Amino acid sequence: MRSKVILVITMLMMASLSHADYKDVFEREFVHKPWVGARLVEEGVCVDCHTAEDMREDYLTIPQEWKRSIHFDNGVSCHDCHGGDPDDAAVSCGTPHSGFVGTPEHIGIPDMCGKCHIGIKDSFNSGGHGKALKTTGEGPNCVTCHGSHAIQKANIDIINQVQCQKCHSYERAKIMKQALFMTEKRIGDLEDSIIELKNAGASTEEEERALFRTHAEFRTLFHSIDVNLVKNRTDEFTKKLDELETAIASIYDDLTFRRNFSGFLLLLFASMSVIIYIRQKRP
Ligand code: HEC
Ligand code: HEC
Ligand code: HEC
Ligand code: HEC
Ligand code: HEC
Repeated sequence: MRSKVILVITMLMMASLSHADYKDVFEREFVHKPWVGARLVEEGVCVDCHTAEDMREDYLTIPQEWKRSIHFDNGVSCHDCHGGDPDDAAVSCGTPHSGFVGTPEHIGIPDMCGKCHIGIKDSFNSGGHGKALKTTGEGPNCVTCHGSHAIQKANIDIINQVQCQKCHSYERAKIMKQALFMTEKRIGDLEDSIIELKNAGASTEEEERALFRTHAEFRTLFHSIDVNLVKNRTDEFTKKLDELETAIASIYDDLTFRRNFSGFLLLLFASMSVIIYIRQKRP
């Protein structure tokens, strides 16, 4: 009898332990995810001086805008874009030998951003916008569409009449949005499913990583502003997303099974306790 009780208790402990393991892993994964916002930025002398009372008034809003940005959330600070030494006020700003590059020229901005967003820079340079920017200076640069200091997570709503009609007809922009729409929507739905699964305690790291990679790869495509290229590569992305969808569906099944199994164990434990109690009461 006693060995059975021990067995049940051990099984229960294992069930709860494996659950804790899962949770640990999600939390670790969650905290490390770039978009969650692990406020790591050390505010160096750039921010100190640029928020000081005697700073030029038209510059004073810049640090506030930056603090609302996805860059702040990911530890990208003033000097990561502008150069300069964030630890030494004497050589931080306006002194080229500290690597300070200051405000970039209109056509130099893709290089500034492209230090980190390499794939996007390449895609942008190869397309109509990048070429027009280089040759005539008339193409948009990164900041035209994303802004510079209050940059937020991107999505296809950036393609809108106000934004895209400044230089040419919206019709040309709209076919691009249509070409992106279905794939973006599927990616969005899968992201929602993963969040739901994660909240329910399932292990989704692998799928999350795969989806993140696929999404990032897909979103560089826009910057080529080549509708045919987007259409041609849609099949390839559809196939990848089909595979992910299958994987996610099987996690849903697994989760349902684990829930039912835990319920079963709990019930088993409760009835065993009752039996033991009754047996012990007997003379
Ligand atoms: C993601 C890159 C990036 C980061 C981070 C960034 N900047 Fe900038 N900054 C730019 C770009 C690009 C421009 C030029 C385009 C523009 O004016 O929008 C600029 C322009 C400026 C200007 C000149 C504005 C003007 O009107 O002439 C100042 C001053 C400035 N930044 C200060 C800062 C300070 C201070 C920080 C940190 C709190 C910061 N920047 C963080 C990219 C960045
Ligand atoms: C001791 C004060 C001080 C510090 C420290 C400082 N700045 Fe500045 N910065 C200024 C002032 C003042 C101006 C405006 C100059 C003017 O009147 O145009 C300025 C202007 C700028 C500009 C726009 C003009 C340009 O040359 O392009 C940028 C960009 C900039 N700072 C970035 C930085 C960065 C990045 C850091 C940190 C590495 C930094 N600053 C540190 C005082 C400072
Ligand atoms: C020092 C590296 C660095 C520089 C320089 C930089 N970024 Fe970023 N950027 C990041 C990081 C890190 C993230 C957050 C992780 C991610 O989403 O890729 C990010 C995120 C973004 C996002 C949101 C991506 C999303 O998930 O939707 C946009 C848009 C963006 N950056 C545009 C720019 C633009 C425009 C510039 C130039 C003005 C720039 N970045 C300069 C590192 C950088
Ligand atoms: C600063 C001006 C400017 C803005 C803003 C702008 N474009 Fe363009 N766009 C151009 C120029 C210049 C060209 C290339 C010359 C041409 O074909 O007219 C171009 C070409 C295009 C093309 C055709 C590319 C090709 O190879 O045929 C598409 C698609 C396009 N833009 C989409 C957009 C979208 C989407 C937006 C808004 C998110 C936008 N544009 C905003 C300037 C701009
Ligand atoms: C004509 C407008 C436009 C220009 C110019 C532009 N972008 Fe984008 N960007 C977008 C749109 C729209 C998306 C979202 C595309 C999607 O969701 O499929 C995007 C997405 C992004 C993302 C998120 C993609 C990811 O993988 O996380 C980053 C980062 C980014 N852009 C950086 C840049 C940089 C750097 C430049 C300059 C080299 C630039 N963008 C130029 C409109 C633009």
